Amino acid sequence: MKHLDPDYGPSVVRTPELGTIYLNVQPHSLTLSQELQATFAFDGEGRPLSCFLDGRNYRFGLSGAILLKTTHPDGKLRRLLAPDEAEELAAAVHTRAARIATAVASGCSPTLQAWLERISAWDSARRTAACQAFAATYRPISIVPPDHYQAVVIQATEGCSWNQCSFCSFYRDRVFRIKTPAALQEHIDQIKALLGRGLALRRSIFLGDANALIVPQTRLRELLAVVNAALPPTTAGGPRGLYAFLDIFGGEIKSVTDYVELKEDGIKRIYLGLETGDDEVFRLLNKPGSPAECVEVVQRIKAAGISVGVILLAGAGGIGFAERHLSSSLATLRAMNLSQDDLVYISPLIPPATSDYALQSATLGLQPLDSAMMNAQLAALRSGAIAASEGQTRVALYHIEEWLY
Ligand SMILES: C[S@@+](CC[C@H](N)C(=O)[O-])C[C@H]1O[C@@H](n2cnc3c(N)ncnc32)[C@H](O)[C@@H]1O
Ligand code: SF4
Repeated sequence: MKHLDPDYGPSVVRTPELGTIYLNVQPHSLTLSQELQATFAFDGEGRPLSCFLDGRNYRFGLSGAILLKTTHPDGKLRRLLAPDEAEELAAAVHTRAARIATAVASGCSPTLQAWLERISAWDSARRTAACQAFAATYRPISIVPPDHYQAVVIQATEGCSWNQCSFCSFYRDRVFRIKTPAALQEHIDQIKALLGRGLALRRSIFLGDANALIVPQTRLRELLAVVNAALPPTTAGGPRGLYAFLDIFGGEIKSVTDYVELKEDGIKRIYLGLETGDDEVFRLLNKPGSPAECVEVVQRIKAAGISVGVILLAGAGGIGFAERHLSSSLATLRAMNLSQDDLVYISPLIPPATSDYALQSATLGLQPLDSAMMNAQLAALRSGAIAASEGQTRVALYHIEEWLY
């Protein structure tokens, strides 16, 4: 058998018992594939990240949750596995991966052997301990922008300081709270212990929860100093750059000078849920501020040299407001003068059944978009957003059901 080098790249091993095994060593992740039929990816701790098994794709969260993604005649299907299903799948993945690791280990370099041993050791007891450590470290991490699904999430604050948007139930389970520098330091120490070698795979730091940048400037900078001291950028992988959400109301109180300071502290991009450019739909959503204020905030942030991610909510206002929502949202984006480093995300509205949005829509007789209308609006928002930035800005789908940490 060819001696497998721990240095990066793919290699192939033919085994009598399991057939052909493909290994792919990336700087901070390892993929094992049996006959290209079953594929498993792991971080440096041996913790499963994703797998392709029996024709289905699964993503493994740090929390222990597992997301199933399959295609369906109606489109993509995304579903979080129930706890017993998740346990069963995790056990099956462990058994398969451990057998592969044993079959290929003898031809591997010592570094790769140690990695395969960590994969074999990630059994049900290890998984349970990791889930418990997660629960002791974090409040639920409700959502982050799609380009930070592989971030280190740091809950510098918990919850949403507004928490009243009619369609959003992400943070209703908790009161807004700002951590003290000491509590933040303890939180980061727990996160580092939880991630272990897996930290090197994470590419950015996302400051949770819903609007961490609403923290008054002096306190915010103290918290950013704690984060930067605990997780300085390195050349050997690991997270670089700080990112966060900001609601528009919170955005009002910071000046360009404040944002310049935040840029010096490492903030690279700020994500704002504009949702719609139409004032009436905006009020229906009960967002804080207004579309015009959102434009002002974006201009201030960009004047400081920080980029923005602007989120639109496809389907907001239903059929009745569809045209206005589309045209006003695109006009608002145009007014923002977005550029290359900025992003636009489009999130298809999935209102919780008992939300104020659902109740008000029923009262006002607003019909939701059917799936063909939703697809048409997504396409129109997408092409319009690209045109609004003269092709400069990346525009992507933000599907809240894809989220997993
Ligand atoms: C945590 S929220 C927003 C962050 C920030 N607090 C703000 O309001 O700008 C992130 C995004 O999730 C999306 N979102 C929240 N609830 C949603 C829902 N029920 N359906 C679809 N998207 C939703 C919205 O587009 C929102 O901007
Ligand atoms: S959309 Fe943003 S501001 Fe509104 S409740 Fe949700 S997290 Fe808070």
